Amino acid sequence: MTTTETNPFLAGNYAPVDEEITEFALTVRGKIPAPLSGRYLRTGPNPLGAPPDPFHWFLGNGMIHGVELRDGQATWYRNRWVRTADVAAAFGEPTPTGPSQPLYDASNTNVVGYAGRILSLTEGCYPYEMSPELATLGRFTPSVGDLPHGLTAHPKIDPVSGDLHGFSYWFVEPYLYYHVIDASGAVTVSEPVTLPRPVSMHDFAITNDHVLFFDQPYIFDLAVAATNGFPYRWAPEFGARLGIMPRGGTDADVRWVDTETCYCFHPMNAYDDGNRVVVDVPRMRSIGGDVAPEVDDLVLERWTVDLDAGALTTERLDDDGQDFCRINEAHLGSRHRYGYTLAMGNPGDGDGPYGSTRIFKHDFARSGREQHDFGSGRHPGEFVFVNDPERAGDEDGGWVMGLVFDAREGRSELVILDAQDFAGAEVAAIELPRRVPYGFHGNWVADPR
Ligand SMILES: [Fe+2]
Repeated sequence: MTTTETNPFLAGNYAPVDEEITEFALTVRGKIPAPLSGRYLRTGPNPLGAPPDPFHWFLGNGMIHGVELRDGQATWYRNRWVRTADVAAAFGEPTPTGPSQPLYDASNTNVVGYAGRILSLTEGCYPYEMSPELATLGRFTPSVGDLPHGLTAHPKIDPVSGDLHGFSYWFVEPYLYYHVIDASGAVTVSEPVTLPRPVSMHDFAITNDHVLFFDQPYIFDLAVAATNGFPYRWAPEFGARLGIMPRGGTDADVRWVDTETCYCFHPMNAYDDGNRVVVDVPRMRSIGGDVAPEVDDLVLERWTVDLDAGALTTERLDDDGQDFCRINEAHLGSRHRYGYTLAMGNPGDGDGPYGSTRIFKHDFARSGREQHDFGSGRHPGEFVFVNDPERAGDEDGGWVMGLVFDAREGRSELVILDAQDFAGAEVAAIELPRRVPYGFHGNWVADPR
């Protein structure tokens, strides 16, 4: 039985912080690029009060940490719990407005800017809308339509149309929906997709012409929730498939192609190549673990599906463990040259998912990889690419930014690197007044222009 006393995901820099603070006087090393006007937001689990017991890392209350940058200055750091129903009740605040899912109300996985909104996301739940200063505004209410089973934490914003593509899954039929939301907040597509059984589907991919679904055998099983609080177990006997649906298609148009039996958290990107669909994935041989996913033989692969033959081929891109894949999202759905990942050790290599000191930049045109090593005791999380408007013609013309926990100092920094000098010195580092617990995903949310 997992207990909160022995759970490593409640210890060290996984341990939650216990107060909300706002700090305007921030020490900056280096020079913050002047075009960066907006805020870097990153979320993760941060139980308020006593954590549930048993506690699974995926299930805590959510806290967003933000750093605002403007005119070359770091103007504030603040952290706020997302006021889901139980957090609002604990603070004596009004219950959140808007539609809700039965049984599950969380918001700890991703925070995304979309069409002037800031959405805090956890799969299986309705998005929460946040203010730029991280006040919770309530649950997102579509102007038209509904989001049955909520929304994935990994929506894709089509750089051509501006629409938000997403999906939702749940343990009752239909087990999967594909959703499209337009900039006005209207749900324009909500298409059920048939699956043989309920699975945990963390992420997906879109190309200019297709939508890709990962049907992998991390299956719903309420019995296992009694031991770890998380109702999914690895069931490799069911195999794994990749579903490919034409954009604008229906459930009947989905083509399912068998893949190796594996689990993929965060595909890097997918694109069309003639009659083929290509997707780059960090894939694990299996997924398990009582308190958080345990990494098992994690590598980076390129899957190519020949749509005429219905056949999938696999190419190994990198033998080293890595995930939290990001690209220049102006290229989302099109062929990408560059990809950015967080090095993640295999079991025994480090301190949970975040034992590494390195992030990677892949150049798929040259089959090369650069790395940035932050040095002993300095542990990065996910790094996100941000365009430099003066270098918009270059796919890697911009910066990558993310949080780095300095174990010796006991605090975290927001670090900015030049993507075209990836291994080089930091462009800027904003020293935060506290440690930021290891969490999940972050994004740059630029000010409206
Ligand atoms: Fe994720």
